[in-house]
Amino acid sequence: MLRRIKIFFIVFLLLLVGAILAALWLLPGTFSAKSTPPEWEVKAARFIRHLATPSHFLKMSNPVRFSPEILAEARHHFADHCATCHANDGSGKTHMGPNFYPPVPDLRNPAIQSMVDGELFYVIHYGIRFTGMPAWGKGLPQEDLESWKLVLLIRHFPNITPKEIAEMKHYNPLTREEREQQEALDQFLSGEDISPPEHHH
Ligand code: HEC
Repeated sequence: MLRRIKIFFIVFLLLLVGAILAALWLLPGTFSAKSTPPEWEVKAARFIRHLATPSHFLKMSNPVRFSPEILAEARHHFADHCATCHANDGSGKTHMGPNFYPPVPDLRNPAIQSMVDGELFYVIHYGIRFTGMPAWGKGLPQEDLESWKLVLLIRHFPNITPKEIAEMKHYNPLTREEREQQEALDQFLSGEDISPPEHHH
């Protein structure tokens, strides 16, 4: 009996040491966000996320009715809160967009457009854990109409016009340089400074 326990213990120790060595050999670099996930991983993650979305969300229809005013509101909201990562046209072609793991997807693509409204809403309201996508929803989901308006805009992305994209630029967060220029201009206009602001381009 004692001998059996001894053998069991030694085998257990050997397995443990083996597992630790394997982990040390395999682990280095595995948390780097520089690589891009392989196709199967993206598909699997999408499928699991679909399964993990509570079914009553999948069945929800957008409580906000489409109108040009609502769409304009959503464009301004998106330009201010989302475009830093997703770009005004939803393409994801931004400074940071491609550097996330997984990278920011092109919201005009079939992979996104084939998601049901409630699924898009769920992602915006609750975010996606372990990725760069934050949770934006405040309060109860049924009262989060701002996120529902963004769902309308995502549906509109495949047909967004250059004019709409140009207009969104006014609502993008300012860079440091733009802010300094704005402050200098404000000072100049309020008469605090007699020299006109420099223009950088
Ligand atoms: C800090 C960067 C960042 C910001 C800001 C951001 N997102 Fe994202 N978003 C991401 C990343 C990264 C992903 C990819 C996550 C993934 O594929 O798992 C993503 C994915 C998405 C998706 C696709 C979800 C899917 O299932 O593939 C939608 C829709 C989305 N974001 C909407 C928005 C909206 C609307 C806003 C603004 C309210 C926003 N995002 C702001 C980084 C961001």
